[in-house]
Amino acid sequence: MNSSIILAAGEGTRMKSKHSKVLTKLLNRPLLGYVLDALEGAGVDKKVVIVGRNESQVKALYGERCLYVKQEIGEDIPYGTGYAASLGVELLDDQDSVLLVCGDTPLVRKESLQELLELHETEGNAATVMSGTKDDPFNYGRIVRDASDNFIGIVEEKDCTADQKKIKEFNSGMYAFKADMLKKALSQIDTNNQQGELLLTDVFVVLRKMKQPIGVYRVKDSVETDGINDKKQLAEAEVKMRKRINEAHMMEGVIMEVPETISIEPGVTIGRDTRIGMGVTITGNTTIGEDCWITAGSRLDNAKIGNDVRIDSSVVESSVMEDGSNIGPYSHLRPNAHLGKGVHIGNFVEVKNATMGEGSKAGHLAYVGDADLGKNINVGCGVVFVNYDGKFKHRSTIADNAFIGSNANIVAPVFVDEEGYVAAGSTITKDVGKGELSIERAEQRNIEGYVARKKARDANKLEEIEAAKKIAEGNRQ
Ligand code: UD1
Ligand code: MG
Repeated sequence: MNSSIILAAGEGTRMKSKHSKVLTKLLNRPLLGYVLDALEGAGVDKKVVIVGRNESQVKALYGERCLYVKQEIGEDIPYGTGYAASLGVELLDDQDSVLLVCGDTPLVRKESLQELLELHETEGNAATVMSGTKDDPFNYGRIVRDASDNFIGIVEEKDCTADQKKIKEFNSGMYAFKADMLKKALSQIDTNNQQGELLLTDVFVVLRKMKQPIGVYRVKDSVETDGINDKKQLAEAEVKMRKRINEAHMMEGVIMEVPETISIEPGVTIGRDTRIGMGVTITGNTTIGEDCWITAGSRLDNAKIGNDVRIDSSVVESSVMEDGSNIGPYSHLRPNAHLGKGVHIGNFVEVKNATMGEGSKAGHLAYVGDADLGKNINVGCGVVFVNYDGKFKHRSTIADNAFIGSNANIVAPVFVDEEGYVAAGSTITKDVGKGELSIERAEQRNIEGYVARKKARDANKLEEIEAAKKIAEGNRQ
């Protein structure tokens, strides 16, 4: 079986954050999530995560997907990557091939982990280390080789001689091991080093002494080995991940305007010829059809978007938009909105926990909350579905072809039957029958001569004010 150990208990001090480093989000997904995806993609069944103070949050996020071992951190307890790994091997079978990785390298690809495992197994190695190359691999352990290019060992930056510091090939911190060999070697390492820690890299010294075969897998693109230790590296990794994801979408036929500004979480699907504008963010379990147009600054999260949909600088959260529907500019679908085919939502409209049937429209400045609307309904400007009594939410239903005039309040629960016609400005608290006009407002009165009388009253008032002013000035002189 292929299993893995993921080191994720480190304190991440350089992040200068009260939150766990491995749970920090990159394009809306925790760093650790990328590593788990890559491991699963590489065919790993058992994943043992070494957790620290972040134990409860990591478990809450990944639950049954992984096994967990808590690394206690304290004065009399050993520390270091070797110690962390030794806690994990207890859960592995001796015959397992183990991928040992860190929780903070989100750019690693499943293909590279797969190749690392394949090389490890075909060469029959006890251990295989993934190496990368950089001009200045500062802070990384260096891969030291003999004159015939054979692997000798890994030397940590702190332990490097001046010559070793010049080595460009470095340890990525990702390895494949035979589980039984890793167990044996870990039981023999000690803390006699600069750091006073149990260093995982020392297992290579032990395995060499045991005359076990060790291999090196050179990753093709060293970007994959970038670890995230501070917020600057986080931003740099996000740029690289964004580029990788956006290029893949473009190669599948998606059109992007200024792709560097577009953030798409992995797993989002987008159909051909859909155009994505600048600064658009698409996250969660979102699917978008073909020939859509999503303009600048829109945000979509867990959205199901059909074909030919236009989203004009708007926000769509956990909602559905069927083929040919459109929204915006500046509107908001809050969770559980479902717009049928060809539905039109104009500017400054909010829809929440509501369905709107085919061809219905809410063109301007409306709130449609907790309601079921049938087909071809017109919701006028300023209509409010009054769904909340201060304690409970209530639902209203509007049947096909009804008309809700501007500025009406629909005080739930209310049922408006087919072709019901609600007059503008009405506050509707009772059901409206089929084809009925419902009008709820005081009758209009026109008062003749009112304006002239008001003007006269106002002129008198002004004269009085002026006279009072003059008297006050006279008194002061
Ligand atoms: C390690 C390697 C170094 C390699 C580099 C690649 C060792 C001794 N050195 O160094 O050769 O070039 O990674 O990035 O392994 N962790 C725990 N428990 C601990 C200590 C660490 O879970 O007690 C976790 C951390 O959360 C982190 C990972 O192990 O995810 C690596 O630890 P870190 O201290 O960053 O190792 P490096 O010094 O970078
Ligand atoms: Mg590190």
